[in-house]
Amino acid sequence: MEEALGDGLSVEDCVTRLKRMHYCLKRLHRVFNDRLTAEPVYELKMGFSLHSHLCAEQATVLRQRVGEMREPPLGMDAVPCEALERLFDEIANAPDTEDLLRGLYLVAVPQLRLEMEKYRVDTHPLADAPTRRLLRTALLDMTDIEDYGKQVQSAYGLEETEWSRELGKAWDGELIERQFSAEPRPFDGVPQRDARFPDPYNMGVNAEVFLYDKTMPVEPKTLMMYYKRLREIDVPEMMASIIAETGDQPWAYYRDMTRQLWDEARHAMMGEVGFAQKGVDWSKHVMVNFTWSLALNTQLTPKERHAVLYFIEQGLMPKNGKRYEWEVGKESGNPLSALFQDFDWADEVLHARVGRNWYVSTFEDPKEAVRYGDECWSRVLLDWQKYRETGLTEHRNWWPDCYRTACNAADIEPEEDVESFGVSYAEVRADLKNVSASA
Ligand SMILES: [Fe+2]
Ligand SMILES: [Fe+2]
Ligand SMILES: [Fe+2]
Repeated sequence: MEEALGDGLSVEDCVTRLKRMHYCLKRLHRVFNDRLTAEPVYELKMGFSLHSHLCAEQATVLRQRVGEMREPPLGMDAVPCEALERLFDEIANAPDTEDLLRGLYLVAVPQLRLEMEKYRVDTHPLADAPTRRLLRTALLDMTDIEDYGKQVQSAYGLEETEWSRELGKAWDGELIERQFSAEPRPFDGVPQRDARFPDPYNMGVNAEVFLYDKTMPVEPKTLMMYYKRLREIDVPEMMASIIAETGDQPWAYYRDMTRQLWDEARHAMMGEVGFAQKGVDWSKHVMVNFTWSLALNTQLTPKERHAVLYFIEQGLMPKNGKRYEWEVGKESGNPLSALFQDFDWADEVLHARVGRNWYVSTFEDPKEAVRYGDECWSRVLLDWQKYRETGLTEHRNWWPDCYRTACNAADIEPEEDVESFGVSYAEVRADLKNVSASA
């Protein structure tokens, strides 16, 4: 009673504050998204994928809450404050990774978390109980992001700079000078990888040929599936470019696409965990390429990229796609592989729905949507020969070494048939339809 007899915020004040937080989350969502493709550091690429998703989810929640308190139009797309807009423009245009990290994790994320906490303290616990409940969850997410940010800060030894101090003032409402955002930085869709991806054009090991070869034993197939999962790192790189370059969609589009983007990042990390299980240092023994995201991002329009994604994913659902991978995992007696394949498959159910809602729905005939995806995919040029001729890669067959390393770690003898597997992607170049690429 003591608490309930106290002051609270008016509905008008609540809506104003919620819209401001919503704006911050929306801007954060896009900064995380727009910078993950060209960010080489693996952990940041994955972290940005997660944080982009969390911000999109919480933005959605706050939007809905404003919609409970006010009749439309809600004005959720309006800029609530010019100083804040400039602050996020500055962060979005940060010229390098360190400034980007400063802006995100030293300023925007902790400040937003404080604002959410302050709201929970200021608002009336009974009158505004629904918002307090939503913010409790939002704060759990924000605290996760902030904790990650603290690790980033110590890993990079990030100190405050004059610029980051200016951002702090902008948060308090001061209209700061534009430093980085005076000239907007265009979206960079060329994927970058760090030193753990030393041979990013390598298409020397055809995972699908090995996986679908009935004469090959199941255990090493789990190793190959971990490679396929880790290679999915190129899907967030590609999806981020669709999100960045597709304007004027309803908010639900960005939210759904970002959820899928995070799923794809999770699949990549499942591969990473798999290699840890197998005792294989993937950065040394597995050549994870970026040829798919590079080709799509530089050769196709966003709509064409979406078409390719949908075409590939709908091809994974029949009997010999995701179900087969799960069955291999189960048969192998490796519970972690079976578990990962189980979820890799289940996530496709959601991805198919995302594809139907936001891609297929733009066609009158669903068959035409598939046909168009097929056509776009056959237009993509992954030039195996040229990559080799121009010295980008030798397409070295890394499989025997990878397999032997896993056998050593498990203390078992390598099998000769498995060890000598050496089918590359060269043979199937002419007909891309036969290549089951990342998805
Ligand atoms: Fe997957
Ligand atoms: Fe997917
Ligand atoms: Fe995928």
